[in-house]
Amino acid sequence: MAQGFGRRDGELYAADVPLRLLAEAVGTPAYVYCAETMRERVRRLDDALAGIPHRVHYAAKANSSGGVLRTLRDAGVGVDVVSGGELFKAIRAGFRPQTDIVFGGVGKTLREIGEAIAVGVKLLNVESEAELHLASEMAVELKTTAAVGIRVNPDVEVETAHEYIATGDKEHKFGVPLDDAERVARVAMALPGLALQGLHMHVGSQLYSYAAYREGAEKLVALAKTLRAAGAPIRYLDLGGGLPVPYAPNEGEPDLAAYGAVMREAVAALGDVELLVEHGRYLVAASAVLVTEVLYRKHNGGVDFVVCDAGMTELIRPSHYDAYHHVEPVGAVTGQVTADVVGPVCESGDFLAVARTLPDVQPGDLLAIHTVGAYGSAMASRYNARGFAAEVLVDGNRWAVVTQPEDYTDLVRQDVESPQWQET
Ligand code: LLP
Repeated sequence: MAQGFGRRDGELYAADVPLRLLAEAVGTPAYVYCAETMRERVRRLDDALAGIPHRVHYAAKANSSGGVLRTLRDAGVGVDVVSGGELFKAIRAGFRPQTDIVFGGVGKTLREIGEAIAVGVKLLNVESEAELHLASEMAVELKTTAAVGIRVNPDVEVETAHEYIATGDKEHKFGVPLDDAERVARVAMALPGLALQGLHMHVGSQLYSYAAYREGAEKLVALAKTLRAAGAPIRYLDLGGGLPVPYAPNEGEPDLAAYGAVMREAVAALGDVELLVEHGRYLVAASAVLVTEVLYRKHNGGVDFVVCDAGMTELIRPSHYDAYHHVEPVGAVTGQVTADVVGPVCESGDFLAVARTLPDVQPGDLLAIHTVGAYGSAMASRYNARGFAAEVLVDGNRWAVVTQPEDYTDLVRQDVESPQWQET
């Protein structure tokens, strides 16, 4: 059984299903996912962590479509959620709060804290002293004890693709500053309704160097020892996500053995602890392509343009992070052109690729934009009144629509056409 995306007789396939067939059946643009690629990534990550007491929690922010969540749940991972909406979707997809769900996020509302505690998530990662007080009040009100972790900002520098995806500098908004973490942890220990069971960090995303993990983990381990000595029942070391995937031809797969070694060291240094990791991108990015139809070719001011029916509304990463995504025709196309691959949205920043050399595609041809499983549909918008695109899951030679595309009527579903005016 084939898996991933590959060419047969000049045509691009998702596992054993031709992408052209899917485009004809479902329309474009459409995200197409390979289930087996996700499972394979779960296996690779579990293998890298073999021998370490651990649980992989999929970071649902990368993609919280039901089809993706259920595939990963069936593959045996837990989930990391950052909002009430993600918590709702995760539970609906079958994840069990007490064993499978950790909840994080820098700006949780009282409602979200209450929901997380009411369902009894495995770990509520708290990001400030003020949030601890709210969690304590909630737990007391609900007559329960909430398992909490403190997200520590370990103040480490990371090398990553774009400054927007580094999160562990002390100037970033995330977590409790390292030099204040012990004091805040002692607040957690003293407050009613809370059990301080974990320490958490997440230093950044798309990280090829593991120095930041090692440096951050050492700081967390030292703090965990201090807190244990003071009586805190620390059971979890949550070292976040951030493993990279290759997007551009000069990028490779991450060295998972080296990553596993850093994790193993941290767990060994503390002992008697379960490692939690929260990877999003690594598990889902490579599992999907965005299939789009070429609508027009243009030549403006010396630049060639390939105008497609997908753009920044379906994939914002190129315009938001200058990200590179590989683009290839679905069918066999001869000749070559160097062009900007752009969408239909009314913004100059609406591009999928800039000055890209690719086969000389013409209107009616299909293109596949690669590595869109993470932060693709999850960051989609309805700008220009464009409905969300369909999502299709492929498994071997079978395929199914797992997210219906939005149509025009979906765009006005929440519109209140006869408003109920209130007088004050
Ligand atoms: N845990 C926490 C606390 C996070 O903030 C993140 C990502 C993750 C886990 C998962 O990170 P991953 O394994 O996917 O790298 N939209 C950006 C990426 C933003 C990542 C934000 N936090 C992009 O498209 O590159």
